[in-house]
Amino acid sequence: MELTELDKKVLYYQDRGHLVPSRELIKTPEQIEGIRRSGIVNTGVLDLVEREIHAGMSTLEIDKLVYEYTKDHGGIPATLGYDGFPKSCCTSINEVVCHGIPNEFDILEEGDIINVDCTTILDGYYADASRMFTIGKTTPQKEKLVRVAKECLEIGMEAAKHLFVGDIGHAIEKHAKKNGFSVVRDLCGHGVGIEFHEEPDVEHFGKKGTGMLLVPGMVFTIEPMINMGTWEVFIDEEDGWTVVTEDEQPSAQWEHTFVMTDNGLEILTH
Ligand code: MF3
Ligand code: CO
Ligand code: CO
Repeated sequence: MELTELDKKVLYYQDRGHLVPSRELIKTPEQIEGIRRSGIVNTGVLDLVEREIHAGMSTLEIDKLVYEYTKDHGGIPATLGYDGFPKSCCTSINEVVCHGIPNEFDILEEGDIINVDCTTILDGYYADASRMFTIGKTTPQKEKLVRVAKECLEIGMEAAKHLFVGDIGHAIEKHAKKNGFSVVRDLCGHGVGIEFHEEPDVEHFGKKGTGMLLVPGMVFTIEPMINMGTWEVFIDEEDGWTVVTEDEQPSAQWEHTFVMTDNGLEILTH
């Protein structure tokens, strides 16, 4: 069998002890197009939330917007029924790091920061993204946290050019620390596209030149969770989902789905 250039590259790094992607992790052009189309619906959902979000709104109302828009555009919200998760998106306010469950009692207040995380399935293809929203005017420290978390995502995206998953985490951790913030270690980004969570795990901390080799065609998320205080978190015992900072200081997160190309990462969710 003739080896392609890509096969040779993978073998080269594998021989040198690196973790390398299996065949299924390298998407075909057709699969990438499918994920891209799913990403367009996903972006539409988050744009709608961005237009509608306001003080006095419940997180359940956000969930309804996500559900209706996704259905109206031929998609399915991936979180609905996923491992028993009951809603169409995650809504994580202030000290909630991620996986907050939308409900009628959580009412947005002036000064809150909130992450809305939506994963869309369209024709079987998954696209996963989240954004932060600031309700009215917030404190300078929370504003900075939201900004630095976004920069961490952008810096992680650039660092992927250096070829390894660990390069992404290293760059993110460095930027967070430089700004006096910490990086959550218990949750990570992930391969995505044909399933919700695929290999590899994309940690938001780590060492340069470690972790899986990145090759064109791989599709994955980067989704740094950046904390104002300690990186440590716990899971709410009552609902079994909501992840909260140990010190109850605020946390911020941004997420995109990317495809690796010959020139670095391309965003599939904007
Ligand atoms: N969308 C989240 C992620 O970025 C996963 C949410 S799973 C849920 O991977 F069950 F909590 F909704
Ligand atoms: Co994700
Ligand atoms: Co997500």
